Amino acid sequence: SEPTSGKLVELAKRRGYFFQSSGAYGGVGGFYTFGPQGAALKGNVEDAWRDRFAVAEGNMEIDAPTIMPEPVFEASGHLDGFDDMLIECPDCGTSSRADHLVEDNTDYEDAESLPIPEVEEVIAEYELVCPECGAGLADVAVENFNLMFDTNIGPGDADPGYLRPETAQGIFVEFPRLKEYARNQLPFGVTQIGRAYRNEISPRRSIIRTREFTQAELEYFVDPEEDEPDLESVADVAVTLYPASEQNAEDGSEIETTIGEAVAEGIIGDEWVAYFLGVAKPWYESVGVDMDRFRFRQHLAGERAHYAADCWDAESEIDGNWIEMAGFAYRGDYDLSKHGDHSGDRFTVFKQYDEPQTVERATVDPDMSYLGPEFGGAAQAIVDELEALAARDRDAFDGETVTIDLEGETHEIPLEKTGFAVEEETIAGEHVTPHVVEPSFGVDRLVYTVLHHAYREDEVDGEERTYLDLEPEVAPTFVGVFPLQNDAELEATADEIVADLREAGLSVTEDDSGNIGRRYRRQDEVGTPFCVTVDYETIENPETTVTVRERDTTSQKRLPIDELAETLAAIRTG
Ligand code: GAP
Repeated sequence: SEPTSGKLVELAKRRGYFFQSSGAYGGVGGFYTFGPQGAALKGNVEDAWRDRFAVAEGNMEIDAPTIMPEPVFEASGHLDGFDDMLIECPDCGTSSRADHLVEDNTDYEDAESLPIPEVEEVIAEYELVCPECGAGLADVAVENFNLMFDTNIGPGDADPGYLRPETAQGIFVEFPRLKEYARNQLPFGVTQIGRAYRNEISPRRSIIRTREFTQAELEYFVDPEEDEPDLESVADVAVTLYPASEQNAEDGSEIETTIGEAVAEGIIGDEWVAYFLGVAKPWYESVGVDMDRFRFRQHLAGERAHYAADCWDAESEIDGNWIEMAGFAYRGDYDLSKHGDHSGDRFTVFKQYDEPQTVERATVDPDMSYLGPEFGGAAQAIVDELEALAARDRDAFDGETVTIDLEGETHEIPLEKTGFAVEEETIAGEHVTPHVVEPSFGVDRLVYTVLHHAYREDEVDGEERTYLDLEPEVAPTFVGVFPLQNDAELEATADEIVADLREAGLSVTEDDSGNIGRRYRRQDEVGTPFCVTVDYETIENPETTVTVRERDTTSQKRLPIDELAETLAAIRTG
Protein backbone atom coordinates (compact mmCIF):
# COMPACT_ATOMS: atom_id res chain seq x y z
CA SER A 1 0.00 0.00 0.00
CA GLU A 2 0.99 3.62 -0.45
CA PRO A 3 3.40 4.71 2.29
CA THR A 4 1.78 6.85 4.94
CA SER A 5 4.47 9.56 4.77
CA GLY A 6 3.33 10.99 1.44
CA LYS A 7 -0.27 11.21 2.59
CA LEU A 8 0.75 12.59 5.96
CA VAL A 9 2.90 15.37 4.48
CA GLU A 10 -0.03 16.36 2.26
CA LEU A 11 -2.44 16.34 5.20
CA ALA A 12 0.05 18.27 7.33
CA LYS A 13 0.15 21.07 4.79
CA ARG A 14 -3.61 21.14 4.15
CA ARG A 15 -4.58 21.14 7.82
CA GLY A 16 -1.86 23.42 9.17
CA TYR A 17 0.54 20.98 10.82
CA PHE A 18 3.72 21.82 8.94
CA PHE A 19 4.91 22.94 5.52
CA GLN A 20 8.10 24.08 3.82
CA SER A 21 9.01 27.65 4.75
CA SER A 22 9.31 30.66 2.44
CA GLY A 23 7.12 29.00 -0.19
CA ALA A 24 6.40 32.37 -1.83
CA TYR A 25 10.09 32.47 -2.78
CA GLY A 26 10.26 28.88 -3.95
CA GLY A 27 10.91 27.34 -0.55
CA VAL A 28 14.29 26.46 0.86
CA GLY A 29 15.49 22.95 1.66
CA GLY A 30 15.55 21.92 5.30
CA PHE A 31 13.39 24.68 6.77
CA TYR A 32 9.80 24.08 7.90
CA THR A 33 7.11 26.16 9.51
CA PHE A 34 4.75 24.61 12.00
CA GLY A 35 1.25 25.89 11.25
CA PRO A 36 -1.45 26.54 13.86
CA GLN A 37 -2.11 22.84 14.55
CA GLY A 38 1.55 21.87 14.37
CA ALA A 39 2.70 24.63 16.69
CA ALA A 40 0.04 23.60 19.22
CA LEU A 41 0.93 19.90 18.98
CA LYS A 42 4.64 20.67 19.27
CA GLY A 43 3.97 22.94 22.25
CA ASN A 44 1.95 20.20 23.95
CA VAL A 45 4.72 17.65 23.36
CA GLU A 46 7.29 20.09 24.78
CA ASP A 47 5.09 20.73 27.82
CA ALA A 48 4.76 16.99 28.39
CA TRP A 49 8.55 16.61 28.09
CA ARG A 50 9.11 19.47 30.54
CA ASP A 51 6.67 17.89 33.03
CA ARG A 52 8.48 14.56 32.91
CA PHE A 53 12.16 15.42 32.46
CA ALA A 54 12.41 18.74 34.27
CA VAL A 55 9.61 19.03 36.82
CA ALA A 56 9.04 15.39 37.84
CA GLU A 57 12.79 14.72 38.04
CA GLY A 58 13.48 17.90 39.99
CA ASN A 59 15.81 19.29 37.31
CA MET A 60 16.40 22.97 36.47
CA GLU A 61 15.41 24.41 33.11
CA ILE A 62 17.37 27.17 31.37
CA ASP A 63 17.01 29.15 28.16
CA ALA A 64 20.35 30.12 26.56
CA PRO A 65 21.19 32.03 23.35
CA THR A 66 21.38 30.14 20.07
CA ILE A 67 24.49 32.03 18.88
CA MET A 68 27.69 31.36 20.77
CA PRO A 69 31.27 32.62 20.30
CA GLU A 70 33.96 30.59 18.56
CA PRO A 71 35.98 29.57 21.65
CA VAL A 72 32.98 27.56 22.87
CA PHE A 73 33.12 25.33 19.82
CA GLU A 74 36.91 25.16 19.82
CA ALA A 75 36.63 23.70 23.29
CA SER A 76 33.64 21.45 22.59
CA GLY A 77 35.35 19.88 19.58
CA HIS A 78 32.62 20.91 17.13
CA LEU A 79 34.91 23.20 15.13
CA ASP A 80 37.28 20.34 14.42
CA GLY A 81 35.07 17.31 14.46
CA PHE A 82 31.46 18.12 13.65
CA ASP A 83 31.72 17.08 10.02
CA ASP A 84 29.82 15.02 7.51
CA MET A 85 31.33 13.52 4.38
CA LEU A 86 30.57 15.61 1.32
CA ILE A 87 30.78 14.58 -2.30
CA GLU A 88 29.92 17.07 -5.03
CA CYS A 89 28.84 15.96 -8.49
CA PRO A 90 31.30 17.30 -11.12
CA ASP A 91 28.50 17.55 -13.70
CA CYS A 92 25.43 19.02 -11.99
CA GLY A 93 26.95 20.25 -8.74
CA THR A 94 24.55 18.31 -6.48
CA SER A 95 25.96 17.79 -2.98
CA SER A 96 25.43 14.39 -1.39
CA ARG A 97 26.51 12.76 1.81
CA ALA A 98 29.14 10.26 0.74
CA ASP A 99 28.39 7.87 3.60
CA HIS A 100 24.65 7.85 2.79
CA LEU A 101 25.44 7.23 -0.87
CA VAL A 102 27.52 4.21 0.14
CA GLU A 103 24.93 2.89 2.61
CA ASP A 104 22.06 3.31 0.15
CA ASN A 105 23.83 1.50 -2.70
CA THR A 106 26.10 -1.13 -1.15
CA ASP A 107 26.08 -3.65 1.71
CA TYR A 108 27.94 -1.22 4.00
CA GLU A 109 25.74 -0.32 6.97
CA ASP A 110 28.04 1.96 8.94
CA ALA A 111 29.85 3.95 6.27
CA GLU A 112 30.02 6.96 8.61
CA SER A 113 32.71 5.16 10.59
CA LEU A 114 34.97 4.56 7.57
CA PRO A 115 37.93 6.88 6.91
CA ILE A 116 37.54 9.12 3.84
CA PRO A 117 40.05 7.27 1.60
CA GLU A 118 38.14 4.05 2.18
CA VAL A 119 34.83 5.70 1.31
CA GLU A 120 36.41 6.97 -1.91
CA GLU A 121 37.58 3.43 -2.69
CA VAL A 122 34.11 1.98 -2.12
CA ILE A 123 32.55 4.67 -4.35
CA ALA A 124 35.03 3.79 -7.11
CA GLU A 125 34.69 0.03 -6.62
CA TYR A 126 30.89 0.10 -6.84
CA GLU A 127 30.95 2.75 -9.58
CA LEU A 128 28.47 4.88 -7.63
CA VAL A 129 26.79 7.73 -9.46
CA CYS A 130 25.22 11.09 -8.65
CA PRO A 131 21.65 10.49 -7.40
CA GLU A 132 20.51 13.61 -9.29
CA CYS A 133 22.02 13.29 -12.79
CA GLY A 134 23.65 9.85 -12.87
CA ALA A 135 27.20 11.13 -13.51
CA GLY A 136 29.96 8.81 -12.31
CA LEU A 137 31.59 9.74 -8.99
CA ALA A 138 34.50 7.27 -9.09
CA ASP A 139 37.18 9.97 -9.43
CA VAL A 140 35.58 12.56 -7.19
CA ALA A 141 37.21 13.52 -3.88
CA VAL A 142 35.21 13.20 -0.67
CA GLU A 143 35.65 16.11 1.74
CA ASN A 144 34.87 16.83 5.34
CA PHE A 145 32.11 19.43 5.61
CA ASN A 146 31.57 21.19 8.95
CA LEU A 147 27.86 21.36 9.73
CA MET A 148 27.88 24.54 11.80
CA PHE A 149 26.36 27.75 10.44
CA ASP A 150 28.79 30.59 11.04
CA THR A 151 28.21 34.29 11.49
CA ASN A 152 29.95 37.39 12.80
CA ILE A 153 29.19 38.88 16.16
CA GLY A 154 29.08 42.65 15.69
CA PRO A 155 30.46 44.47 12.62
CA GLY A 156 33.56 43.09 10.94
CA ASP A 157 34.88 39.60 11.29
CA ALA A 158 36.97 39.85 14.43
CA ASP A 159 34.47 37.88 16.52
CA PRO A 160 33.19 34.85 14.70
CA GLY A 161 30.17 33.12 16.15
CA TYR A 162 28.22 29.98 15.39
CA LEU A 163 24.61 28.93 15.63
CA ARG A 164 24.68 26.18 18.19
CA PRO A 165 24.51 22.69 16.68
CA GLU A 166 23.11 21.28 19.95
CA THR A 167 21.38 23.01 22.86
CA ALA A 168 23.74 21.14 25.20
CA GLN A 169 26.64 23.62 24.86
CA GLY A 170 24.42 26.39 26.23
CA ILE A 171 24.19 24.33 29.41
CA PHE A 172 27.83 23.22 29.63
CA VAL A 173 29.33 26.70 29.30
CA GLU A 174 27.20 27.96 32.20
CA PHE A 175 28.22 25.11 34.49
CA PRO A 176 30.29 27.29 36.88
CA ARG A 177 27.11 29.27 37.65
CA LEU A 178 24.61 26.43 37.42
CA LYS A 179 26.48 24.38 40.00
CA GLU A 180 25.99 27.27 42.44
CA TYR A 181 22.23 27.15 41.86
CA ALA A 182 22.46 23.45 42.65
CA ARG A 183 24.30 24.40 45.87
CA ASN A 184 27.33 22.43 44.68
CA GLN A 185 25.50 19.17 45.26
CA LEU A 186 25.75 16.33 42.77
CA PRO A 187 23.81 14.83 41.14
CA PHE A 188 21.77 17.52 39.46
CA GLY A 189 20.23 18.00 36.05
CA VAL A 190 19.69 20.96 33.74
CA THR A 191 17.25 20.91 30.83
CA GLN A 192 16.74 23.12 27.84
CA ILE A 193 14.18 23.09 25.05
CA GLY A 194 15.30 25.17 22.09
CA ARG A 195 16.52 25.48 18.55
CA ALA A 196 19.63 23.84 17.15
CA TYR A 197 21.11 24.42 13.69
CA ARG A 198 22.99 22.12 11.34
CA ASN A 199 23.80 22.91 7.75
CA GLU A 200 22.84 19.38 6.66
CA ILE A 201 24.32 18.43 3.27
CA SER A 202 21.07 16.87 2.12
CA PRO A 203 18.06 17.59 4.30
CA ARG A 204 15.42 14.98 3.64
CA ARG A 205 12.13 13.39 4.56
CA SER A 206 10.33 16.60 5.50
CA ILE A 207 10.83 17.48 9.17
CA ILE A 208 12.94 14.40 9.92
CA ARG A 209 16.21 15.96 8.75
CA THR A 210 16.12 19.74 8.68
CA ARG A 211 18.65 22.55 9.05
CA GLU A 212 16.88 24.20 11.97
CA PHE A 213 15.13 22.03 14.53
CA THR A 214 14.14 21.85 18.17
CA GLN A 215 15.90 19.76 20.76
CA ALA A 216 14.80 18.96 24.28
CA GLU A 217 17.93 18.04 26.17
CA LEU A 218 18.78 17.05 29.71
CA GLU A 219 22.35 17.23 30.92
CA TYR A 220 22.56 15.22 34.11
CA PHE A 221 25.71 15.79 36.16
CA VAL A 222 26.85 12.94 38.39
CA ASP A 223 29.73 11.99 40.62
CA PRO A 224 30.85 8.81 38.82
CA GLU A 225 32.21 7.34 42.04
CA GLU A 226 29.24 7.93 44.29
CA ASP A 227 25.96 8.62 42.56
CA GLU A 228 23.62 5.85 41.53
CA PRO A 229 20.27 6.11 39.76
CA ASP A 230 17.02 4.82 41.23
CA LEU A 231 17.04 1.78 38.94
CA GLU A 232 14.41 0.08 41.08
CA SER A 233 11.80 2.55 39.85
CA VAL A 234 12.28 1.58 36.19
CA ALA A 235 13.47 -2.04 36.54
CA ASP A 236 10.15 -3.50 35.32
CA VAL A 237 9.83 -1.31 32.24
CA ALA A 238 9.65 -3.65 29.24
CA VAL A 239 11.87 -2.61 26.32
CA THR A 240 12.91 -3.76 22.87
CA LEU A 241 16.70 -3.44 22.62
CA TYR A 242 18.99 -3.76 19.62
CA PRO A 243 22.50 -3.82 21.09
CA ALA A 244 25.65 -3.35 18.98
CA SER A 245 26.58 -7.02 19.49
CA GLU A 246 23.33 -8.11 17.82
CA GLN A 247 23.78 -5.64 14.96
CA ASN A 248 27.26 -7.03 14.37
CA ALA A 249 26.14 -10.67 14.54
CA GLU A 250 25.24 -12.42 11.31
CA ASP A 251 21.75 -13.41 12.48
CA GLY A 252 21.41 -10.79 15.20
CA SER A 253 17.98 -9.65 16.28
CA GLU A 254 16.25 -7.37 18.72
CA ILE A 255 15.93 -8.46 22.34
CA GLU A 256 12.70 -8.22 24.35
CA THR A 257 13.62 -7.64 27.96
CA THR A 258 13.21 -5.27 30.90
CA ILE A 259 15.49 -2.48 32.01
CA GLY A 260 16.35 -4.42 35.18
CA GLU A 261 17.32 -7.56 33.28
CA ALA A 262 19.23 -5.65 30.62
CA VAL A 263 21.41 -4.08 33.32
CA ALA A 264 21.84 -7.38 35.18
CA GLU A 265 22.97 -9.08 31.97
CA GLY A 266 25.29 -6.25 30.99
CA ILE A 267 23.38 -5.46 27.78
CA ILE A 268 23.13 -1.85 28.90
CA GLY A 269 26.50 -1.08 30.45
CA ASP A 270 25.79 2.21 32.12
CA GLU A 271 23.17 2.37 34.85
CA TRP A 272 22.39 6.04 34.30
CA VAL A 273 21.72 5.50 30.62
CA ALA A 274 19.54 2.52 31.58
CA TYR A 275 17.62 4.67 34.04
CA PHE A 276 16.79 7.31 31.45
CA LEU A 277 15.81 4.70 28.86
CA GLY A 278 13.41 3.39 31.50
CA VAL A 279 11.96 6.86 32.08
CA ALA A 280 11.72 7.62 28.36
CA LYS A 281 9.88 4.52 27.18
CA PRO A 282 6.57 5.07 29.08
CA TRP A 283 6.81 8.77 28.34
CA TYR A 284 7.02 8.13 24.60
CA GLU A 285 4.00 5.89 24.94
CA SER A 286 2.08 8.61 26.81
CA VAL A 287 2.47 11.09 23.95
CA GLY A 288 1.31 8.57 21.37
CA VAL A 289 4.31 6.70 19.97
CA ASP A 290 3.22 3.18 18.98
CA MET A 291 5.19 0.80 21.20
CA ASP A 292 5.10 -1.90 18.52
CA ARG A 293 7.11 0.45 16.34
CA PHE A 294 9.61 1.61 18.93
CA ARG A 295 13.01 0.33 20.08
CA PHE A 296 16.29 1.37 21.62
CA ARG A 297 19.33 0.76 19.41
CA GLN A 298 22.90 0.98 20.64
CA HIS A 299 25.36 2.95 18.53
CA LEU A 300 28.06 1.00 16.76
CA ALA A 301 31.59 2.00 17.75
CA GLY A 302 32.22 4.10 14.64
CA GLU A 303 28.88 5.85 14.84
CA ARG A 304 29.33 7.55 18.17
CA ALA A 305 29.79 11.30 18.39
CA HIS A 306 33.25 12.60 19.29
CA TYR A 307 32.22 13.05 22.93
CA ALA A 308 30.28 9.86 23.62
CA ALA A 309 31.55 6.80 25.47
CA ASP A 310 28.31 4.88 24.92
CA CYS A 311 25.06 5.86 23.26
CA TRP A 312 21.63 4.37 22.71
CA ASP A 313 19.04 5.84 20.35
CA ALA A 314 15.28 5.77 20.74
CA GLU A 315 14.02 4.80 17.29
CA SER A 316 10.61 4.77 15.69
CA GLU A 317 9.53 2.86 12.63
CA ILE A 318 8.31 5.04 9.75
CA ASP A 319 7.18 3.26 6.58
CA GLY A 320 9.58 0.38 7.15
CA ASN A 321 12.60 2.52 8.12
CA TRP A 322 13.89 3.12 11.61
CA ILE A 323 14.55 6.76 12.43
CA GLU A 324 16.42 8.19 15.41
CA MET A 325 14.19 10.25 17.70
CA ALA A 326 16.58 10.68 20.63
CA GLY A 327 20.07 9.79 21.77
CA PHE A 328 21.00 8.75 25.31
CA ALA A 329 24.74 9.33 25.58
CA TYR A 330 27.26 8.87 28.34
CA ARG A 331 29.50 11.90 27.71
CA GLY A 332 31.80 11.27 30.69
CA ASP A 333 33.78 14.35 31.77
CA TYR A 334 34.56 15.26 28.15
CA ASP A 335 32.67 18.56 27.95
CA LEU A 336 33.35 19.97 31.40
CA SER A 337 37.07 19.10 31.21
CA LYS A 338 37.38 20.74 27.80
CA HIS A 339 35.61 23.91 28.89
CA GLY A 340 37.67 23.96 32.08
CA ASP A 341 40.94 23.67 30.15
CA HIS A 342 40.01 26.20 27.48
CA SER A 343 38.38 28.85 29.65
CA GLY A 344 40.46 28.57 32.81
CA ASP A 345 37.23 28.71 34.83
CA ARG A 346 36.26 26.03 37.35
CA PHE A 347 34.12 23.37 35.72
CA THR A 348 34.29 21.20 38.83
CA VAL A 349 32.29 20.70 41.99
CA PHE A 350 33.92 20.82 45.39
CA LYS A 351 33.13 17.56 47.10
CA GLN A 352 33.22 18.01 50.84
CA TYR A 353 34.26 14.91 52.78
CA ASP A 354 32.10 13.77 55.71
CA GLU A 355 35.20 14.16 57.88
CA PRO A 356 38.36 16.09 56.98
CA GLN A 357 40.97 13.70 55.65
CA THR A 358 44.69 13.59 56.18
CA VAL A 359 46.63 13.03 52.99
CA GLU A 360 50.30 12.80 52.20
CA ARG A 361 51.82 15.20 49.76
CA ALA A 362 55.27 14.83 48.23
CA THR A 363 57.27 18.05 47.79
CA VAL A 364 60.69 18.97 46.44
CA ASP A 365 62.90 21.89 47.40
CA PRO A 366 65.96 21.49 45.16
CA ASP A 367 69.29 22.90 46.15
CA MET A 368 69.73 25.56 43.51
CA SER A 369 73.34 26.18 44.43
CA TYR A 370 73.96 22.62 43.42
CA LEU A 371 71.76 22.68 40.30
CA GLY A 372 72.61 26.17 39.18
CA PRO A 373 76.32 26.17 38.30
CA GLU A 374 76.54 22.54 37.39
CA PHE A 375 73.47 22.29 35.15
CA GLY A 376 73.43 25.79 33.67
CA GLY A 377 70.32 26.78 31.74
CA ALA A 378 68.61 23.44 32.35
CA ALA A 379 68.16 24.21 36.07
CA GLN A 380 64.56 25.45 35.89
CA ALA A 381 63.52 22.61 33.60
CA ILE A 382 65.00 20.16 36.07
CA VAL A 383 63.12 21.73 38.97
CA ASP A 384 59.85 21.50 37.01
CA GLU A 385 60.50 17.89 36.15
CA LEU A 386 61.41 17.03 39.74
CA GLU A 387 58.13 18.54 40.94
CA ALA A 388 56.11 16.66 38.35
CA LEU A 389 57.94 13.45 39.22
CA ALA A 390 57.25 13.87 42.94
CA ALA A 391 53.51 14.22 42.24
CA ARG A 392 53.43 11.36 39.78
CA ASP A 393 55.88 8.72 40.99
CA ARG A 394 57.17 8.80 44.52
CA ASP A 395 59.12 5.57 43.99
CA ALA A 396 61.54 7.50 41.81
CA PHE A 397 62.87 9.05 45.04
CA ASP A 398 63.55 5.71 46.74
CA GLY A 399 67.25 5.31 45.78
CA GLU A 400 70.35 7.39 46.40
CA THR A 401 69.95 9.33 43.19
CA VAL A 402 66.97 10.53 41.19
CA THR A 403 67.08 10.01 37.43
CA ILE A 404 65.65 12.65 35.14
CA ASP A 405 65.44 12.49 31.38
CA LEU A 406 65.42 15.90 29.71
CA GLU A 407 65.56 16.37 25.98
CA GLY A 408 67.44 13.15 25.49
CA GLU A 409 69.92 13.83 28.30
CA THR A 410 69.93 11.84 31.53
CA HIS A 411 70.65 13.61 34.82
CA GLU A 412 71.51 11.74 38.01
CA ILE A 413 70.77 13.98 40.96
CA PRO A 414 71.73 12.96 44.51
CA LEU A 415 68.56 12.48 46.56
CA GLU A 416 69.55 15.00 49.26
CA LYS A 417 69.97 17.72 46.62
CA THR A 418 66.31 17.36 45.58
CA GLY A 419 64.94 18.36 48.98
CA PHE A 420 62.36 15.60 48.64
CA ALA A 421 59.94 15.35 51.60
CA VAL A 422 56.55 13.85 52.33
CA GLU A 423 54.24 16.07 54.32
CA GLU A 424 50.87 15.39 55.85
CA GLU A 425 48.03 17.71 55.02
CA THR A 426 44.44 17.88 56.26
CA ILE A 427 41.91 18.58 53.53
CA ALA A 428 38.14 19.16 53.73
CA GLY A 429 37.30 17.81 50.27
CA GLU A 430 38.35 17.75 46.65
CA HIS A 431 37.37 19.21 43.30
CA VAL A 432 35.74 16.63 41.04
CA THR A 433 34.76 16.98 37.42
CA PRO A 434 31.24 15.60 37.13
CA HIS A 435 30.35 13.11 34.43
CA VAL A 436 27.44 13.86 32.14
CA VAL A 437 24.57 11.60 31.14
CA GLU A 438 22.58 13.11 28.31
CA PRO A 439 19.09 12.23 27.12
CA SER A 440 18.77 14.34 23.95
CA PHE A 441 15.38 14.43 22.23
CA GLY A 442 14.58 15.73 18.77
CA VAL A 443 11.17 17.36 19.03
CA ASP A 444 10.46 17.61 15.29
CA ARG A 445 11.11 13.92 14.67
CA LEU A 446 8.92 13.07 17.62
CA VAL A 447 6.10 15.25 16.30
CA TYR A 448 6.47 13.53 12.94
CA THR A 449 6.36 10.09 14.58
CA VAL A 450 3.33 10.98 16.71
CA LEU A 451 1.44 12.09 13.59
CA HIS A 452 2.59 9.12 11.53
CA HIS A 453 1.70 6.58 14.19
CA ALA A 454 -1.70 8.26 14.67
CA TYR A 455 -2.59 8.25 10.97
CA ARG A 456 -5.70 6.08 10.33
CA GLU A 457 -7.96 5.34 7.41
CA ASP A 458 -11.32 3.66 7.82
CA GLU A 459 -14.82 3.74 6.43
CA VAL A 460 -17.74 5.54 8.02
CA ASP A 461 -21.25 5.16 6.57
CA GLY A 462 -19.80 3.82 3.35
CA GLU A 463 -17.39 6.73 2.98
CA GLU A 464 -13.61 6.69 3.34
CA ARG A 465 -12.36 8.65 6.27
CA THR A 466 -8.91 9.77 7.42
CA TYR A 467 -8.32 10.61 11.03
CA LEU A 468 -5.47 11.17 13.45
CA ASP A 469 -5.73 9.04 16.56
CA LEU A 470 -3.82 11.57 18.69
CA GLU A 471 -3.60 11.24 22.46
CA PRO A 472 -5.96 13.77 24.10
CA GLU A 473 -2.99 15.08 26.09
CA VAL A 474 -1.19 16.35 22.98
CA ALA A 475 -4.00 16.90 20.44
CA PRO A 476 -3.75 20.54 19.26
CA THR A 477 -7.50 21.06 19.30
CA PHE A 478 -9.35 19.17 21.99
CA VAL A 479 -12.92 19.89 21.04
CA GLY A 480 -14.81 21.29 18.05
CA VAL A 481 -18.12 23.04 18.69
CA PHE A 482 -20.67 23.18 15.88
CA PRO A 483 -23.99 24.95 15.73
CA LEU A 484 -26.04 22.56 13.56
CA GLN A 485 -27.22 25.32 11.24
CA ASN A 486 -26.83 29.03 10.64
CA ASP A 487 -29.36 30.02 13.25
CA ALA A 488 -28.89 32.90 15.68
CA GLU A 489 -30.15 30.94 18.66
CA LEU A 490 -28.01 27.87 17.95
CA GLU A 491 -24.98 30.11 17.38
CA ALA A 492 -25.51 32.03 20.59
CA THR A 493 -25.71 28.78 22.58
CA ALA A 494 -22.61 27.47 20.81
CA ASP A 495 -20.75 30.69 21.70
CA GLU A 496 -21.64 30.20 25.35
CA ILE A 497 -20.44 26.60 25.30
CA VAL A 498 -17.16 27.64 23.63
CA ALA A 499 -16.59 30.27 26.33
CA ASP A 500 -17.28 27.70 29.09
CA LEU A 501 -14.93 25.12 27.59
CA ARG A 502 -12.16 27.68 27.09
CA GLU A 503 -12.56 28.78 30.67
CA ALA A 504 -12.01 25.15 31.68
CA GLY A 505 -8.63 25.38 29.93
CA LEU A 506 -9.57 23.37 26.84
CA SER A 507 -8.43 24.20 23.33
CA VAL A 508 -11.63 24.73 21.34
CA THR A 509 -12.44 25.54 17.74
CA GLU A 510 -15.86 26.72 16.63
CA ASP A 511 -16.85 25.72 13.12
CA ASP A 512 -20.08 26.69 11.39
CA SER A 513 -19.13 26.30 7.75
CA GLY A 514 -20.35 23.45 5.57
CA ASN A 515 -22.59 20.55 6.44
CA ILE A 516 -22.05 18.74 9.70
CA GLY A 517 -20.47 15.69 8.00
CA ARG A 518 -17.79 17.87 6.42
CA ARG A 519 -17.10 19.54 9.73
CA TYR A 520 -16.63 16.16 11.41
CA ARG A 521 -14.23 15.07 8.69
CA ARG A 522 -12.22 18.26 9.05
CA GLN A 523 -11.80 17.72 12.79
CA ASP A 524 -11.06 14.00 12.26
CA GLU A 525 -8.17 14.95 10.00
CA VAL A 526 -6.87 17.40 12.57
CA GLY A 527 -7.19 14.69 15.23
CA THR A 528 -9.67 16.54 17.44
CA PRO A 529 -10.84 13.97 20.02
CA PHE A 530 -14.38 15.38 20.52
CA CYS A 531 -16.98 17.34 18.62
CA VAL A 532 -20.00 18.96 20.27
CA THR A 533 -23.03 19.75 18.17
CA VAL A 534 -25.68 22.22 19.26
CA ASP A 535 -29.00 21.31 17.65
CA TYR A 536 -32.66 22.20 18.11
CA GLU A 537 -33.08 19.66 20.87
CA THR A 538 -30.43 21.60 22.80
CA ILE A 539 -32.69 24.61 22.78
CA GLU A 540 -35.97 22.76 23.31
CA ASN A 541 -34.91 20.15 25.84
CA PRO A 542 -35.50 21.32 29.40
CA GLU A 543 -32.23 19.57 30.45
CA THR A 544 -30.48 21.25 27.53
CA THR A 545 -28.24 18.55 26.18
CA VAL A 546 -25.76 18.58 23.31
CA THR A 547 -24.42 15.78 21.11
CA VAL A 548 -20.88 14.72 21.92
CA ARG A 549 -19.17 12.71 19.20
CA GLU A 550 -16.05 10.73 19.85
CA ARG A 551 -13.39 10.83 17.09
CA ASP A 552 -12.17 7.23 16.89
CA THR A 553 -15.48 5.37 17.19
CA THR A 554 -17.65 8.19 15.80
CA SER A 555 -20.18 7.17 18.47
CA GLN A 556 -22.39 9.94 19.79
CA LYS A 557 -24.19 10.53 23.02
CA ARG A 558 -26.06 13.38 24.59
CA LEU A 559 -24.69 15.21 27.60
CA PRO A 560 -26.23 18.03 29.65
CA ILE A 561 -24.49 21.33 28.90
CA ASP A 562 -23.65 21.97 32.51
CA GLU A 563 -21.69 18.68 32.74
CA LEU A 564 -19.81 19.20 29.50
CA ALA A 565 -16.78 21.24 30.59
CA GLU A 566 -16.10 19.12 33.65
CA THR A 567 -16.47 15.80 31.80
CA LEU A 568 -14.22 16.82 28.91
CA ALA A 569 -11.61 18.48 31.12
CA ALA A 570 -11.35 15.26 33.14
CA ILE A 571 -10.64 13.29 29.95
CA ARG A 572 -8.05 15.85 28.81
CA THR A 573 -6.02 15.55 31.96
CA GLY A 574 -6.38 11.75 31.97
N1 GAP B 1 23.45 16.89 22.36
C1 GAP B 1 23.42 15.63 21.71
C2 GAP B 1 22.98 15.69 20.33
O1 GAP B 1 22.78 16.76 19.78
P1 GAP B 1 22.28 14.19 18.29
O2 GAP B 1 22.05 12.72 18.23
O3 GAP B 1 23.20 14.79 17.31
O4 GAP B 1 22.77 14.47 19.78
C3 GAP B 1 19.87 14.64 19.14
O5 GAP B 1 20.88 14.94 18.23
C4 GAP B 1 18.54 14.56 18.43
O6 GAP B 1 18.28 15.74 17.68
C5 GAP B 1 18.45 13.44 17.41
O7 GAP B 1 18.12 12.21 18.03
C6 GAP B 1 17.35 13.93 16.50
O8 GAP B 1 16.07 13.61 17.04
C7 GAP B 1 17.52 15.42 16.55
N2 GAP B 1 18.20 15.87 15.31
C8 GAP B 1 19.52 15.85 15.05
N3 GAP B 1 19.76 16.34 13.81
C9 GAP B 1 18.56 16.69 13.29
C10 GAP B 1 18.14 17.26 12.04
N4 GAP B 1 19.01 17.61 11.10
N5 GAP B 1 16.80 17.47 11.86
C11 GAP B 1 15.90 17.16 12.81
N6 GAP B 1 16.26 16.62 13.99
C12 GAP B 1 17.56 16.39 14.24
